[in-house]
Amino acid sequence: MSPAEKPRLLPLFPTRSSGRAAVTCKYRCGSACSHEAPNTSDNRYFGDVVREIVSRRKVLKAGAVIAVAGAGAAVGGVAFAEGPTAADHVGHPVSSLDFDPVAPNTEDAVVVPPGYEQQVLIRWGDPVVPGAPEFDFANQTAAAQAKQFGFNNDYCGLVPIPGRPGRWLMVNNHEYTSEGYMFFGWDDANPTREQAEIAWAAHGQSIVLVMENADGTLSAKVDKHYNRRLTLTTPWAVTGPAAGSDLLKTSADPTGTVVFGTQNNCSGGVTPWGTILSGEENIHNYFANADKVTDPVAHERLKRYGFPDGASTRKWERFDPRFDLGQNPNEANRFGWIVEIDPLDPTSTPVKHTAMGRLKHEGANVIVAKDGRVVAYMGDDERFEYMYKFVSAGKVKKGNGSYARAHNKKLLDSGTLYVARFTGDSPVEEIDGSGKLPSDGEFDGSGEWIPLAHNDKSFVDGMTAEEVYVFTRLAGDKVGATKMDRPEDVEPSLKTGRMYAALTNNTDRGKPDKEGATEIAPRLGNKHGQVLEVEESGGDNTASTFAWRLFLVCGDPNSPDTYFGGYDKTQVSPISCPDNVAFDSRGNLWITTDGNALDSNDGMFAVPVEGRERGHVKQFLTVPNGAEACGPVVTDDFVLVSVQHPGELDGASADNPMSHWPDGGTTQPRPSVVAVRKTK
Ligand code: FEO
Ligand code: CA
Ligand code: CA
Repeated sequence: MSPAEKPRLLPLFPTRSSGRAAVTCKYRCGSACSHEAPNTSDNRYFGDVVREIVSRRKVLKAGAVIAVAGAGAAVGGVAFAEGPTAADHVGHPVSSLDFDPVAPNTEDAVVVPPGYEQQVLIRWGDPVVPGAPEFDFANQTAAAQAKQFGFNNDYCGLVPIPGRPGRWLMVNNHEYTSEGYMFFGWDDANPTREQAEIAWAAHGQSIVLVMENADGTLSAKVDKHYNRRLTLTTPWAVTGPAAGSDLLKTSADPTGTVVFGTQNNCSGGVTPWGTILSGEENIHNYFANADKVTDPVAHERLKRYGFPDGASTRKWERFDPRFDLGQNPNEANRFGWIVEIDPLDPTSTPVKHTAMGRLKHEGANVIVAKDGRVVAYMGDDERFEYMYKFVSAGKVKKGNGSYARAHNKKLLDSGTLYVARFTGDSPVEEIDGSGKLPSDGEFDGSGEWIPLAHNDKSFVDGMTAEEVYVFTRLAGDKVGATKMDRPEDVEPSLKTGRMYAALTNNTDRGKPDKEGATEIAPRLGNKHGQVLEVEESGGDNTASTFAWRLFLVCGDPNSPDTYFGGYDKTQVSPISCPDNVAFDSRGNLWITTDGNALDSNDGMFAVPVEGRERGHVKQFLTVPNGAEACGPVVTDDFVLVSVQHPGELDGASADNPMSHWPDGGTTQPRPSVVAVRKTK
């Protein structure tokens, strides 16, 4: 690469503590970061204790470290094995990664590399189901929104329609609403019922037929067979071991098995059987009056999940008492699940899987283990929260027949739920909080999956199985799970079986009374996040132990506290706040970011995880100012990216828009899905 072709690196601007606008925090998570992190459990010292023990062992027995790249025995019998290299696959247009990196910028545009073109595939308000009216920003109604593409699309999943090449069902999460950007004259203190009902209709999911055209472009179609809108009034079935639990019963649903709607669906994954999994994440900020719950046990449980006292962000409790915890404390327990949608069966009822635990779920991604059981990896996205996996009891059946699909759609209802404990392998004194690599050259170590429950059996002292499933964070506290820097998207590579997790940031790391640096969270005041790589023992995704290392320690590559898989840092793009991850057909990792703290817009990046190019991070695109890049889909022919909350900047509003993307002129910004493809 000539100097002129080198990716432009950011100057060392003074960085903000977070690149995310305060108004985004308000709407998305009720400004959770400005409140105390809800994990006040006393297992904060557990990792340090174990690490000190390991350090002492290392002094006694030099060489007892987790080795890399195929070295043999290691602590706990876990080690990274040599995987296939990128050279095993050639010729895919997008996954060849031969693009010139996009430079950091603050454009009000999606910026893609030379030789690539973009199209807006669908926007907030575009018709989804037959009969949907055209979008009219100034005259929105709940009835119209319930037929149109919802607000703030996050995860994007693409399910091929069997037997119909070039046809997919696209499933988009509509994570949250930003009322100040949706309505002229929005008054925080005095929302109207119609505005609340529009917001209920703007949440949930859209299921949309997508077709590839002869010229390679894509079209989103209003299809009467497949297309659906799921909203906050759609009935969902509760399944798994906590279905019907007293903890899930309300006056409106004495069965504890039917919930209206899904909320704050963040990321997700496509299952091998063609369904979509999605995580209900920041559920707390839709509810009011935790302080009115007088039962001390119920109150403590609500606080562990951050449910607020007093009024909620959107004041929905004024229009539906289920959002008033003082009246309906158990309604809170009916959100926070992994949900599953079958887009291929438009008559199917979507489900909430209690066997996968209740957290602030980012999402879930499934891999079929060697023995045919399925394993789902999951993160709980809040400061100092935990990572989880679920291993099914049953095995997957092959094929797309109705019998096999019906069987596979029940796999996530029965199995074992685990939480992760990570142990570093370097001496504790070498993890000094600066991000400086320890003397063994990597932030790495071993770990174990601690079982929490299997169906009706609890493995946690003092908690029933139902309590483990409904109050999973408390179960993690009791067993000494590792506090992490906001575990977001967690996804296994189907090529190597290794799992990759985006750990977005944690600016509270090391603050007074907070856990300090650990080998898996090695920077105090962590602004830029890291990407974790995990290999299960024996390459078996059902294993109870694993090896781990930080693949990327993100930030400005000019800064000594960053690490790019050992790659030459003068050659990589700066990356900050990794959030969603995906893989292309070669096994390259693609990453989208949320909250870039390097004074550039968020974007999408690609990086090989194998071979000579391992760690060579290149920026593929940037999204408009104020927007977050998410939901990536990477096929050989095109990339889809969700452009969430464009123009959501402090001081902006519908009355004072600071972005006019995607329609330009003086238009309001509209969250949209963008398709990018190679033209030459
Ligand atoms: Fe909705 Fe964890 O981001
Ligand atoms: Ca180490
Ligand atoms: Ca996310």
